[in-house]
Amino acid sequence: DLSTTICGQTLTTCVYNASGPRTGSSDALSKVASSRSGAVLAKSATVEEQTGNPLPRTFQADGKGSLNSEGLPNKGIDYYISQNTIEESMGESGKPYFVSISGHNLADNLDMLKKIDKVSGISGVELNLACPNVIGHPIIAYDFEQMDSVLSAVAKLKLKKPLGVKMPPYFDGPHFEQAAKVLNKYKSSISYAASINTVGNALVIDTVAEMPAINPKGGFGGLSGPAVKYTALANVKKMRDLLDESIDVVGVGGVETGEDVFQFLLCGAQAVQVGTKHWIEGASCFDRIVGELEVLMEEKGYKSVEEFRGKLKPW
Ligand code: DHB
Repeated sequence: DLSTTICGQTLTTCVYNASGPRTGSSDALSKVASSRSGAVLAKSATVEEQTGNPLPRTFQADGKGSLNSEGLPNKGIDYYISQNTIEESMGESGKPYFVSISGHNLADNLDMLKKIDKVSGISGVELNLACPNVIGHPIIAYDFEQMDSVLSAVAKLKLKKPLGVKMPPYFDGPHFEQAAKVLNKYKSSISYAASINTVGNALVIDTVAEMPAINPKGGFGGLSGPAVKYTALANVKKMRDLLDESIDVVGVGGVETGEDVFQFLLCGAQAVQVGTKHWIEGASCFDRIVGELEVLMEEKGYKSVEEFRGKLKPW
């Protein structure tokens, strides 16, 4: 049994897609819905449709890391919450559909949340506190005062729909503690925290061209893929240790195999998202990864994910 629950919804498998690659249109989302992904999560939306940063803006480094600075290309929130999009994306799958938002400012985020709250067929919303790629907008969750005021304003909306927050990676004990403290303060409004977004502002260089590999922000972009898996595991483990038990932790970062998913579950993840590998391999990655997890659990004699979730053994 690979099922789990998120936002009060059952996911038939505990693996689903991260917001980001191959999530911008109903065409792409329907491929996720038709796979063994346990849920479907749309691309981070802004109030209005936008095209994003100049090309080239993504780069697959060496199979170990990928870099992106897309700058939130998306069709605008109205697209992702329309009944048409939801039907075209989800079909008869019966899976939970989640949207993600990443407004340019607090007012935009509040407007989008109010809109989403009125729409049926949406199981929850992921508020992105961690986008590193919008020029002139630092990562919200690296500024704990700003993060507190954003969550305070969101809590005041008293949303009916469950809210998740997408977190950036942290690298230092006090930062983990401060972030968890802010999230715990708003625990009655937060259903899950997803750790991690990309490792912000990495630089890949093309030796032949003697240039950055991508165009926007002087070549700086968010690092993803296997290079960030160990940072992601640490963030999931720390968040699980520090967050109130009412807040689920969703693991994301560098997941490529069923074994990777198993490791995130050991660290306490309620579910695991796949971003970069979905980008590279397409939606069939969910069938492969879920199959690999089934084999590994069978080898280890586990019948459900609850049997080992959060049970990373100490030395
Ligand atoms: C983009 C990248 C992110 O990591 C994110 O959280 C939101 C948007 C982007 O570049 O499109």
